[in-house]
Amino acid sequence: MTGKVALVTGASRGIGAACAIALGNAGFKVAVHYRGNEDKALAVCAAIPGARAFRADLSDAAACQGLIKTVAAEMGGLHVLVNNAGVAIDQILPMAKPDDFDTLINTNLKSVFLLSKFAARPMIRQKWGRIINLASVVGFTGNPGQSMYAATKAGIVGFTKSIAAELAPFGILANCVAPGFIETDMTGALPEPVKEAMLGRIPLKRFGAVEDIAGAVEFLASEKSSYITGSTIHVNGGMFTN
Ligand SMILES: NC(=O)c1ccc[n+]([C@@H]2O[C@H](COP(=O)([O-])OP(=O)(O)OC[C@H]3O[C@@H](n4cnc5c(N)ncnc54)[C@H](OP(=O)(O)O)[C@@H]3O)[C@@H](O)[C@H]2O)c1
Repeated sequence: MTGKVALVTGASRGIGAACAIALGNAGFKVAVHYRGNEDKALAVCAAIPGARAFRADLSDAAACQGLIKTVAAEMGGLHVLVNNAGVAIDQILPMAKPDDFDTLINTNLKSVFLLSKFAARPMIRQKWGRIINLASVVGFTGNPGQSMYAATKAGIVGFTKSIAAELAPFGILANCVAPGFIETDMTGALPEPVKEAMLGRIPLKRFGAVEDIAGAVEFLASEKSSYITGSTIHVNGGMFTN
């Protein structure tokens, strides 16, 4: 993969940072995207030879287009797009705020549409590309208190299957990775009783590590996955066996 450019969104911390480091170790030139945590993004870059950091608020449509253009111009192309950036806002339906729903849709789903749309252009020209989208186990199972978040993640799955069919003739593969419960800032904020209940639902009896997700993303970015498109890799410790 030497010389190929991979953009990982939300790579300043958590799953995105682990994906950026794994892709860097696999030989990609990595564009480390962040929104607010510049120091952390620069620390991730420091761990990856040749990596560079790019700032954008992906809830803003113009910023999504600008990010793709800037990365392609400054890194010398764009071959792999990992749509990882995301937020979680949890609330039971009667209390859920329409503004929060808009935030979730814009950040988690519309950005995936926009970034994929603009990234597809250089990928079509070079007849090679990989789009890897971070879904979630709750997009498949649902979860009380997460109707808004789950809707964005289920949307990503339908979107990915559709673009996989559209882009296959151009040598572009599109797949999802659906994490279960992974130890990051996002899940660190959950109350202890919720975490204990989640652990009880995981047959492998541990929460996932960010490297568990990065391994699946690295596989989907590699030639080893060249006959896989429109699929989802579930990395959830066996939650579907319940
Ligand atoms: N952790 C889990 O258990 C789990 C489970 C299922 C799915 N996922 C999905 O996996 C992905 C990564 O999760 P995580 O736990 O690693 O999250 P995290 O630790 O909370 O990190 C979120 C990342 O997204 C970026 N981000 C947030 N809002 C943004 C915005 N408006 N514009 C641009 N970037 C933004 C953040 O950038 P800054 O730090 O620079 O602000 C940060 O890099 C998400 O899509 C999440 O839904 C996670």
